[in-house]
Amino acid sequence: MNAPGDSRPIGVFDSGVGGLTVVRALMERLPLESIVYFGDTARVPYGVKSVATIEHFTGQIVDFLLRQEVKMLIVACNTMAAVALKIVAARAGAVPVLDVIEAGACAAVAVSSGGRIGVIGTPTTINSNAYARRIHALDPGVRVYSQACPLFVPLVEEGWLDHPVTRLTAQEYLRPVLAEEVGSLVLGCTHYPLLKPLLRDVAGERIRLIDSAETTANLAADRLREAGLATGSQEPATCRYFVTDVPLRFQTVGERFLGRSLGRVERVDW
Ligand code: DGL
Repeated sequence: MNAPGDSRPIGVFDSGVGGLTVVRALMERLPLESIVYFGDTARVPYGVKSVATIEHFTGQIVDFLLRQEVKMLIVACNTMAAVALKIVAARAGAVPVLDVIEAGACAAVAVSSGGRIGVIGTPTTINSNAYARRIHALDPGVRVYSQACPLFVPLVEEGWLDHPVTRLTAQEYLRPVLAEEVGSLVLGCTHYPLLKPLLRDVAGERIRLIDSAETTANLAADRLREAGLATGSQEPATCRYFVTDVPLRFQTVGERFLGRSLGRVERVDW
């Protein structure tokens, strides 16, 4: 540990580029904290895979990040958070773990007291019921209506953020949730914030869209401070990106997620 602060990086991971929406929020909220990002681009998407497979992949990623000596782990993938959080916690030991479902549930409950909350996510996330459980643990009074949106991740990866096909797909997916007159809609997949303008159109202005990236960054700031792990350094932070496929596609799509240039992306040799 480096006194007076801890300059080790925060480890952030996702199945691909989606977790960069969380990195972006972290860079804004905690500009002095360094980050090591891992995107399993060779094996994305996770959201349609079995729990056993996702657990196995998650364990490998966590071990990799721990070898990079991260001071905190942020699960920036709802799918891994939904079904493999125990694996993360077991391997992390004393390293604190934060995840996007915890953050999304907190944010949803904060704006929806006693109300009706819609949740959209990958099939694995929705089938796990993880959002409903976490939301009800915070507020048993709210009603949760969930909808799996399996086509959204490939549409985002394709860059079809405002394409007629994406719009029609969103109308189809959101219809049952909107029929329940929800007051807020949790974007329960880290790919979905890129569809925000389109989803706002389809859902209507009345419905609050909950993007867990910002809440995750705020929770990370609180936890680092409470645990005495915040950096004391005034040096510019560094961000290293590791991927499992050739970096080119991650670099191109990733810049859209991050809203800035990524710099160097390294391919992991397991
Ligand atoms: N970004 C992942 C999530 O938040 C979904 C992408 C995938 O299916 O791998 O759930």
